Amino acid sequence: MATASAALKQKGAGVAFVPTMGALHEGHATLMRRAHESGAAVITSVYVNPTQFGPREDFNQYPRTFDADCALCEQAGVSLVFAPADEEMYPSGFAAVSTWVDELQVAKRLEGERRPGHFRGVCTVVAKLFNIVQPDTAFFGQKDYQQLKVIERMVRDLRYPIEIVPVPTVCEADGLAMSSRNRYLAPVERAKATVLSRALRAASESGETDPLQLEALIKDVVAGVPEVRLDYAEVVDGQTLERISRVRPGDVALIAASLGATRLIDNVIL
Ligand code: PAF
Repeated sequence: MATASAALKQKGAGVAFVPTMGALHEGHATLMRRAHESGAAVITSVYVNPTQFGPREDFNQYPRTFDADCALCEQAGVSLVFAPADEEMYPSGFAAVSTWVDELQVAKRLEGERRPGHFRGVCTVVAKLFNIVQPDTAFFGQKDYQQLKVIERMVRDLRYPIEIVPVPTVCEADGLAMSSRNRYLAPVERAKATVLSRALRAASESGETDPLQLEALIKDVVAGVPEVRLDYAEVVDGQTLERISRVRPGDVALIAASLGATRLIDNVIL
């Protein structure tokens, strides 16, 4: 992979990287198209990273659709797909990792609190992928807002010479944020899941600047669909993800909720 990436770099336009776990959809295709439009050669990785899943999470069920993923990559202008085996990413086995990369500030709250070890797994695998692929730019979706901010911090702290390019969330026609996990939803759940984006839109259109009032507004909208079990609705600083006392432009409202066995997240930048 490193040799292939170096050869692409020699062509002069640089390498743009889109890391994924496969089960690709239009949201990923948008990342790839944006990377392609930058003029660089695009490399995508497809690797379901075991270390970012908790023991009771969906690692085994996570959809694996490699042939369809490759077709989507080709259509979206990707030059190379990197699909490493576990032994390549975790030579000593992923049950006995001895070197982790762990961001401790931005990763602390919200998803980090609910999914212990998740961001440590994400940072570790992304650091490995960056070291192997050696891209000039890397494209991340704002759908996983906290992940994006954790990676930005990791890149700054570890001095990776890589520009992180955030890409706005792509939504279905009814507003549901695109996610590989949406395919777990039964049709009846799928319709109810739109309450997440409705609640966030109501918050962003309200003009309210008191974070507690905004959170209450979001919770009220979600409470209208009792099948949706709200995990958190928080309005926080857009960079640090810490609590704030007044909303300023660039702060963010984040939501996580479950429907049946499916956990969904979404956010809006205020
Ligand atoms: O967002 C994802 O798909 C994953 O967390 C990532 C960044 C590919 C790391 O496994």
